[in-house]
Amino acid sequence: MIISPSILSADFAKLGEEVRSLETAGADWAHIDVMDGAFVPNITIGIPVIRSLRPYTKMPFDVHLMINEPLRYVGDFVKAGADIFCFHIEAESAPGKTIDAIAAAGAKPAIALKPGTPAEAVLPYINDLFMVLVMTVEPGFGGQSFMADMLPKIREIRKKAPDIRIQVDGGINAGTGRLCAEAGADVLVAGSYIFGAADRAAAIQSLKC
Ligand code: DX5
Ligand code: ZN
Repeated sequence: MIISPSILSADFAKLGEEVRSLETAGADWAHIDVMDGAFVPNITIGIPVIRSLRPYTKMPFDVHLMINEPLRYVGDFVKAGADIFCFHIEAESAPGKTIDAIAAAGAKPAIALKPGTPAEAVLPYINDLFMVLVMTVEPGFGGQSFMADMLPKIREIRKKAPDIRIQVDGGINAGTGRLCAEAGADVLVAGSYIFGAADRAAAIQSLKC
């Protein structure tokens, strides 16, 4: 199980130290939520912040783009340090072209699905993807409740693609993480659960088993 803490719940005034401390606490990747205020109602961080964070850790940057035009920014995000470029299938960019641009830039392509989007939407692209992200809340904000009705979607994608990475994001804690793992997920994103814990290393560990 890969654990990718979402830094959306971190203290933004000391983000470098927060990211570094996650690595020490046993995290595998750093999940970075980019929001443009258009694809989702919230605005978070962008390219310069990712570039500034890059020297603080060796962990892969798992960048989740909740933006309308991901294709336009592939080069900039990869140059800034994104290892995984995960865009939404519901965004405006053509998925095939976006995947090609990510691969050409040297990063790993991934597609995210909002709760209302069925598994079928991603199937035409699945052979070209490193990972599929099944959102288990509506994208936009941390701290929301896990949607258990997303579990069949995870199972369906796992059945169609036994070897792909399946990531879940939204409302993940030790209990909901276990349900997702049983359904076939192998990458857990967690924001408020990890950053709200008194012992972050223990919280990360609890997601691994
Ligand atoms: C929501 C983001 C998530 C968010 C998860 O749109 O994609 O990564 O930070 O937060 P929690 O784990 O608190 O639900
Ligand atoms: Zn996310």
